[in-house]
This record gives sequence, C-alpha cells and structure tokens, in this order.
Amino acid sequence: MERKRVAILISGRGSNMAALIDAAANPDYPAEIALVVSNRPDAAGLARAQAAGIATLVIDHRPFGRDRAAFEHALDSELTARQIDLVCLAGFMRLFTAWFVSRWQGRMINIHPALLPAFKGLGTHERALAAGVKLHGASIHFVIPEMDSGPIIVQAAVPVLDDDTPETLAARVLAAEHRIYPLALRWLAEGRLTVVDGRCKVAGAAAHADTLISP
Ligand code: GRF
Repeated sequence: MERKRVAILISGRGSNMAALIDAAANPDYPAEIALVVSNRPDAAGLARAQAAGIATLVIDHRPFGRDRAAFEHALDSELTARQIDLVCLAGFMRLFTAWFVSRWQGRMINIHPALLPAFKGLGTHERALAAGVKLHGASIHFVIPEMDSGPIIVQAAVPVLDDDTPETLAARVLAAEHRIYPLALRWLAEGRLTVVDGRCKVAGAAAHADTLISP
C-alpha cells in the first residue's frame, strides 16, 4: 500500500509530533511524515524534526497580521506543492477559517488534552482539577470550523489523583496523547474511518479495544 504523505503542524515543543515521527519510522506504518510546519520560528519541535531528517518549514503568521486567509493560502500552497495527503495538528495554536477547514475536510485531525466535549480551549488540566473530575484524558478528532469540536476518533482516559497538580496531571495525559495519536493517524491513513451523523466509526473489530483507560 502507498504510504500517505502527512504534514504535522506545530507551534511549540512537538512531543506529539515526535510520537508520530517515531511511529512512522516503522516501514509498516501506513503514513510517512513528509513535512513539519511551524507558525513560530522558535518552536522547539523544529529541531527535533530536523534531527529525525524530516523536512521543516516555518510560515510565520505575524507578517500576515489579521489576514488569516492570506496565512492559510500560503500554508495551503505549500501543502499542495508537497503533495500532502493528510494534516495532523499537534499543539498548533492557530484557528483556521472555514475555507481552510473545508479544503482539508476529512483529511485533518487534531489532538486535544481533555475528554471532549469537556474542557475545550486552553488550561484543560487546571479546569479538570477545579471541576473535581475523576477521569481526564485526551481526544483525537477531525477538525471542523468550531474549535476543539468535530467527530471524535479515539480517546484515552487517565485517573485524576488526589494529590495531582496541573503539571502531574498534564504529564499523565501527555503519555496517553503519545499513544493515541499514532493510532488515530494509522486508522485515518488506512482509510478505516467513516463519519455518520457526527459519529466516527473505525472499521475493524480491534478498534474499540484501543479506546484506553490507563493508569
Ligand atoms: C498537547 O498537550 C496537545 O494536546 C495540545 O498542546 C500540547 C502540545 O504539546 N494541543 P506538544 O507540542 O505535542 O509537546
């Protein structure tokens, strides 16, 4: 099977990007990481990608000012020129217009550090602690114009412990993120995902066993 060409979009550290790069290093993985794009020139993830031999690109959003469409056209041109099939958002801190989302509809996924639809937006770990939830986690979902929404592909839950701080909880969730993102990209690249009435189904009996609760 032809491997899908994937671009990962980052803004910072890039640990989820690294998890995807590691997974795709296996020749049996159905996707190759063809490009890492950052909207921030100082994103630490860029060096990690380069060290792994992945092509990187900075498209700084700042010169575009408030013109989100111009930024997105520049990004879209690069993705198209490099024959990118799929886009993974991994800590990418920009919202997209409906135009860009529709261009990549069904081909662009995001990771969010919470069990959606709970705790959309920033500061998820602080808010989970403040709410007193006993389970927290991470979600991978298709991107739609509404932020941190869209059909959920896979989730992983982790326990919230009595002595957790936002930092300890974030670390537990991050470990779960690194497990589910490669899984979701595999399913997408294999063409196993279908969305009906906002619900994402995964073809293949083993899929649901991978919705995880981890210690
Ligand atoms: C992750 O927690 C991700 O879920 C969120 O931003 C963080 C990015 O971390 N969207 P990293 O850059 O992947 O290390």
